[in-house]
Amino acid sequence: MARSIIQILSIACLAFQGLAQFPPTPEGITTLQSRFHPGITISYKQPGICETTPGVKSYAGYVHLPPNSINETHEDQHYPINTFFWFFEARKDPRNAPLAIWLNGGPGGSSMIGALAENGPCLVGSDSNGTYLNEWSWNNEVNVLYLDQPVQVGYSYDVLTNITTSIGDERFFGVDIQEADFSDAVPEQNLTFLVGTTGSQKLTHTANSTTHAAVALWHFAQTWFEEFPHYKPEDEQLSLFTESYGGHYGPAFVSHFMKQNELISNGTISEPGAHYLHFNTLGIVNGCIDEEAQVKAYATMAWNNTYDVKAFTEEQYNHAIHGLEREGGVIYQLRKCRRLQKRLDPNDHGDVERVISHCQQAITAGANITQEVYLNNAERGWFDITHPATDSFPPPYAFGFMNQHWVQKALGVPVNHSFVSQAVGANFDATADMARGGLLEDIAYILDHGVRVTMMYGDRDYACNWIGGEEASVRVPWGHQEEFAEAGYTPLVVSPVHSGGLTRQYGNLSFTRVYQAGHMVPSYQPEVAYEIFMRAVTGRDIATGTVDLREVEGRGEHYSTQGPKDTWWKKNDVLPAPAGECYLFDLGRCTEEEIGWVFDGTAMVKDWIVVGREEQASFGSVIEGDQEPLSTEKVTQAPVSRSKDAATQLPSYVEASGLLSECPSM
Ligand SMILES: *[C@@H]1O[C@H](CO)[C@@H](O)[C@H](O)[C@H]1NC(C)=O
Ligand SMILES: *[C@@H]1O[C@H](CO)[C@@H](O)[C@H](O)[C@H]1NC(C)=O
Ligand SMILES: *[C@@H]1O[C@H](CO)[C@@H](O)[C@H](O)[C@H]1NC(C)=O
Ligand SMILES: *[C@@H]1O[C@H](CO)[C@@H](O)[C@H](O)[C@H]1NC(C)=O
Ligand SMILES: *[C@@H]1O[C@H](CO)[C@@H](O)[C@H](O)[C@H]1NC(C)=O
Ligand SMILES: *[C@@H]1O[C@H](CO)[C@@H](O)[C@H](O)[C@H]1NC(C)=O
Ligand SMILES: *[C@@H]1O[C@H](CO)[C@@H](O)[C@H](O)[C@H]1NC(C)=O
Ligand SMILES: *[C@@H]1O[C@H](CO)[C@@H](O)[C@H](O)[C@H]1NC(C)=O
Ligand SMILES: *[C@@H]1O[C@H](CO)[C@@H](O)[C@H](O)[C@H]1NC(C)=O
Ligand SMILES: *[C@@H]1O[C@H](CO)[C@@H](O)[C@H](O)[C@H]1NC(C)=O
Repeated sequence: MARSIIQILSIACLAFQGLAQFPPTPEGITTLQSRFHPGITISYKQPGICETTPGVKSYAGYVHLPPNSINETHEDQHYPINTFFWFFEARKDPRNAPLAIWLNGGPGGSSMIGALAENGPCLVGSDSNGTYLNEWSWNNEVNVLYLDQPVQVGYSYDVLTNITTSIGDERFFGVDIQEADFSDAVPEQNLTFLVGTTGSQKLTHTANSTTHAAVALWHFAQTWFEEFPHYKPEDEQLSLFTESYGGHYGPAFVSHFMKQNELISNGTISEPGAHYLHFNTLGIVNGCIDEEAQVKAYATMAWNNTYDVKAFTEEQYNHAIHGLEREGGVIYQLRKCRRLQKRLDPNDHGDVERVISHCQQAITAGANITQEVYLNNAERGWFDITHPATDSFPPPYAFGFMNQHWVQKALGVPVNHSFVSQAVGANFDATADMARGGLLEDIAYILDHGVRVTMMYGDRDYACNWIGGEEASVRVPWGHQEEFAEAGYTPLVVSPVHSGGLTRQYGNLSFTRVYQAGHMVPSYQPEVAYEIFMRAVTGRDIATGTVDLREVEGRGEHYSTQGPKDTWWKKNDVLPAPAGECYLFDLGRCTEEEIGWVFDGTAMVKDWIVVGREEQASFGSVIEGDQEPLSTEKVTQAPVSRSKDAATQLPSYVEASGLLSECPSM
């Protein structure tokens, strides 16, 4: 009798564990039919997590576009698009606050990185479970909308699909994701093997280029602003801020919205409920904008930077410069790719084989002598040249947090979270989106139509470094291109005693080199990033924040900073790097030794952090048939000691995915 009760209890317990391995069925959700678009729905709830400031609301949910909701020619949306968003009201006066949209890059990177590790209301603690408020959150005075796009990124999904994932141990590993049927049994999870529910992983079920993604985002926004009309800013105080691959997304998305606005204004789009959505600011944070400028900068930055870090040998540097600049070299190939694109695929449908193959060859040839050399050297962080390759900053705890059962429940999401969608990365590779031109022209169009463009680049980043960003800024072929290049750099004044960087601005275009920041500028320099953001969205000059440009003659058309023409005179000190930490959702941060423990089953793990290794003697008896759940604490018998020599060759998960697409996410 007693025995059967125990059995029942343990069966009940197993059943519960079985359920907890999968994201919960959403509860407490409000679902609304779109008023103007039959079949389109929006569903959301108030999660009450992360933004815990009393009285400040947030909404998490989805805009659901059934197949063929996107019916423009050359779109082929034969799959549903369920786009996840998380909207945070401003902490002050949300009804009158401007609204900013934040997008991380990738392609395939989730914007939840921004929300939980960069500029959002909270940051995640080292237990990957608790959160604390971020005083420099961009929603202090602005309503901020974070969303995961294109579909299959983050919590966005097409068709719910059960999967297993195995973390691979090869160099540039991906995570092997396989569709699975668990109707008979659910296999046990361990450190390198997980079960869960994601999107379909099908390459044909998402956008394969920036241009296609722009169309999908516009349809998302049409529904979102229809259902949350009270947050649509009255005086068109709408802005888009984006990072990394956002150097592509931002210019293309804003110019697409502007062109749609023209069609709405002149009656070409006349359907009821069509929303004119005017952005007043495009913000780009360490964006990869122009491949030609960026590929050269990969060579320069590795050899000649303001920290006196040498990430290439002189030979590697010379080899790279020669390979880029020689006749028929990478620069030549990129220009040819662009010429072909203009001639054969002018509307960027991404379906002309000859264009794609030329552009892919140019990308591969460029990566071979620049990014891959950097990664192979395995000395320096991808997002921070002053940190080791196994860089532990910014902390990865949001990765675990987003896959906590209770978090999924609070957000009302039926899927596991993926920080980088491999399907999306592979799909963008398939059109060679990275090499395609037109972004500088988009920025020119945006500026010439009275929209401001604010660029901020952390000067420790390698991935989309400031050298390439600055080069892109002076190449923008807008009405004041010459005056912009002539404008000098002036200190970015953050407080009377603190300069956060150097800014060049002419009229509505500004470029700031931010000191002591890697790729995700708001994580490294939260106050500086916040100031630049606020000055931009309130129309003030970026360098001091004291001049309201809209009050200056010609709405600031001829406002200009003064000072030296470049910033190379300003050198920086290398600051101590944070201690390494091996995290299971991002093995690129681990030493080879630690990875060995993870795969031979001896790693001791607390909250996804490898904290030590079991004694060899006890190994076997402990592990046999009795694998501990993932986040269970074990007693550390052999604490981790991380020596410099142990620094590994593995780039991080995110970096690895980035290599495929030449511009990593976040
Ligand atoms: C999916 O989420 C569940 C919690 O709901 C977790 O147990 C599982 O490990 C996650 N799977 C993956 C692949 O992340
Ligand atoms: C696309 O859908 C919209 C809204 O349903 C409709 O007004 C429009 O006519 C459709 N366009 C085409 C080309 O089918
Ligand atoms: C994680 O956080 C949730 C919500 O605050 C809490 O209920 C739970 O006990 C925490 N889990 C652990 C292991 O601390
Ligand atoms: C995934 O598998 C679990 C366990 O068998 C099941 O409850 C759930 O409905 C499945 N989900 C999907 C999307 O197939
Ligand atoms: C509306 O504007 C678009 C883009 O500027 C143009 O191609 C189209 O011909 C215009 N249509 C009308 C009816 O003016
Ligand atoms: C680094 O670049 C700057 C600016 O182009 C240049 O002045 C300097 O000579 C370069 N230094 C080296 C070591 O190449
Ligand atoms: C990219 O997607 C578009 C639209 O779905 C399609 O027409 C095109 O063939 C795709 N390109 C590739 C290389 O798959
Ligand atoms: C570059 O390509 C060559 C020829 O395919 C190859 O041998 C070499 O290993 C590549 N270099 C890197 C850094 O990937
Ligand atoms: C600069 O951008 C702002 C915001 O969109 C706009 O109001 C202003 O007219 C623009 N100024 C110029 C000179 O284009
Ligand atoms: C984890 O589970 C997978 C699949 O069952 C298995 O192949 C692997 O050996 C396990 N790893 C460890 C360390 O137990």
